[in-house]
Amino acid sequence: MASVDRETPLTIAVPKGRLQSSVIDLFEQVGIDCSELKSPSRRLIVPVPGTAWRFLLSKPTDVPTYVEYGAADLGVVGKDTLLESGKDVAELIDLGFGRCRLIVAVPESSGVKNVQELDFNSRVATKFPQIARDYFNRQGIQAEVVELNGSVELGPIVGLSDAIVDITETGTTLLENGLIPIAEVAEISSRLIANRVSYKVKHGTIYGLVKLLRNVLSKKTGVGMEG
Ligand code: PRP
Repeated sequence: MASVDRETPLTIAVPKGRLQSSVIDLFEQVGIDCSELKSPSRRLIVPVPGTAWRFLLSKPTDVPTYVEYGAADLGVVGKDTLLESGKDVAELIDLGFGRCRLIVAVPESSGVKNVQELDFNSRVATKFPQIARDYFNRQGIQAEVVELNGSVELGPIVGLSDAIVDITETGTTLLENGLIPIAEVAEISSRLIANRVSYKVKHGTIYGLVKLLRNVLSKKTGVGMEG
């Protein structure tokens, strides 16, 4: 980790689960020792050897909360989770992984081709109620948003809802459940976020890390150049 201050304490919230291995890959490419993070253990606070840094292993939806309240200086989170959280944090870089789309989908058998064709007060099942409400408000469409915690595609199948707002990556889940996308709400990828106070107080350390990440990302994919 040449040119990065390792002495200033830094806590980085890492989401457990599907993004975790991509976070480790990226951090290792910029020279952060993730050996402790990779070793199997139930510890939730993991040191970065040779530095005053540490990782905090969090449920993905809680990353923005830890960062907003300053329990973590930095965090990695999907843009979907970040939008839904409404938390006041600084979004620093598009990390490029965890790419998927947030879409509105309906049963193919409904014949509905776009959101304007949804009936008045259609029910929409989703894990993202805030995003869904904002989206339908912006479209000027009256919809009843029903919050679920997963397996959202079940909603239309069992008659709970007329449509869903959900993420799709390969499209397999939609296809296998007879659903088709009719609108895109947002393109999603993982973001590096910072606590606003930490970003000022620890600016040199955080900006040093951001520069390293941007270099790696721009070489790989051309992303990470914003902000
Ligand atoms: C997500 C999402 C879809 C599925 C999309 O669910 O909510 O159900 O992945 O992926 P695909 O387009 O590649 O099929 P997740 O696996 O996180 O489980 P959940 O539904 O229980 O939240």
